[in-house]
Amino acid sequence: MKVLLIGSGGREHALAWKISQSLHVKKIFCSPGNPGTMAIADNVDISPEDIPALLEFASKEGIDLTVVGPEVPLTLGIVDEFERMKLKVFGPKKNAAELEGSKIFAKQFMKRHKIPTGDFEVVESPDQANKMLSSGRFSFPVVIKADGLAAGKGVIICKNMPLAEKTINEIMTERKFGEAGNRVLIEEFLRGKEVSFIVITDGAVAVPLVTTMDHKAVYDGDKGPNTGGMGAISPSPYTDRRLFDEVMQTIVTPTITRLLEEGRKFKGVLYVGLMLTDQGPKVLEYNCRFGDPETQPQMLRLESDLVDLLMGSVEENLSRVKAKWSHKTSGCVVIASDGYPGPYQKGLVIKGLKNVMDIPGITIFHAGTKFQEGETYTNGGRVLNVCASENTLTETMTKIYETLPLISFEGMFYRSDIGVKKEENK
Ligand code: AMP
Ligand code: GLY
Repeated sequence: MKVLLIGSGGREHALAWKISQSLHVKKIFCSPGNPGTMAIADNVDISPEDIPALLEFASKEGIDLTVVGPEVPLTLGIVDEFERMKLKVFGPKKNAAELEGSKIFAKQFMKRHKIPTGDFEVVESPDQANKMLSSGRFSFPVVIKADGLAAGKGVIICKNMPLAEKTINEIMTERKFGEAGNRVLIEEFLRGKEVSFIVITDGAVAVPLVTTMDHKAVYDGDKGPNTGGMGAISPSPYTDRRLFDEVMQTIVTPTITRLLEEGRKFKGVLYVGLMLTDQGPKVLEYNCRFGDPETQPQMLRLESDLVDLLMGSVEENLSRVKAKWSHKTSGCVVIASDGYPGPYQKGLVIKGLKNVMDIPGITIFHAGTKFQEGETYTNGGRVLNVCASENTLTETMTKIYETLPLISFEGMFYRSDIGVKKEENK
């Protein structure tokens, strides 16, 4: 079988790594991939958003399965286009991917179907927003979200009215996130522990992946602005069997069923971002793709064939597929460029990479890197993922943290508290 994997992050390297272990797979292409995927796949220089070029490549090359990593091509309708050409593709169609593409659609969907989530209002002008904020309906801190994809940066938690007014002005008047500022969500701030709950579904059956905990804030102690994720561990220390069943019954199953009833059959990865509140788990957001960096520790624990799961979703026979997971713990720490999640420099030479590749038990997944004339350079905000899987969380994290100082580039940083249990957000 020939597989085309779309994307270039740490998530895609981890997926390519696992797909390369599949007994069904003879060849993998990554578009565009990264220096890490180069070792196991042919990198093809096509942007994930260039759907016509991807279609042409998949048709010409006789690709048997296309796997879409990032959300943008999914919200642009890549699955609809591929299916129209009778090409097999893993992911939701455009109308189902709207669950991630429009935060307002997602909130209204949850409200319609009584899926637990925080209180919210939609506002369409700065004036309406400011009236709502000063009405006392929402207490501070309040959460303000631009509608649409803003590369994980369109969510702002405002501690007081002046900050909220400033945020509304930036989003709705100055258009910091472009069209995503046409309509804005004002949301109740939820307190608790955050858990990523991720399943693969064929539109009817859902196979849960092992639980993970992401670390979104840029600095230790959950300080600083949110990023795409600075590290993740699996299993999540906060999910037990009872909670797992509750989330499946009150959130995952109703989401998939109600979407189907609304004519938006959801196939692919359903990623539910949850807050474990005093009143039970509530949905913060939905994503329609694998998590990054959550996928990295998940793939380290997956013992069965990933392609069986992906094809089970595509061919709508997931009930016949069993996922087998290792009982070990796994972890991933992200190495980032100075300045991330703000502006950062690219093209800095990375030292020490060759030495750590051979350390037993350590797996390196590339993200924002570039290979040129025998050297590896930085090429993004999140640069590398250092991962391991050992019997206990302590052993896993010790192994990772012993390895990290062996890698270096100018201004590199990483969080030193990935996997440390956190107190609730205050
Ligand atoms: P989202 O992209 O909607 O998941 O938001 C990004 C991050 O902002 C989440 O992972 C949470 O850490 C935080 N967040 C979003 N919405 C809320 C909320 N209603 N209450 C508290 N924190 C939130
Ligand atoms: N790590 C967060 C995400 O993938 O959305």
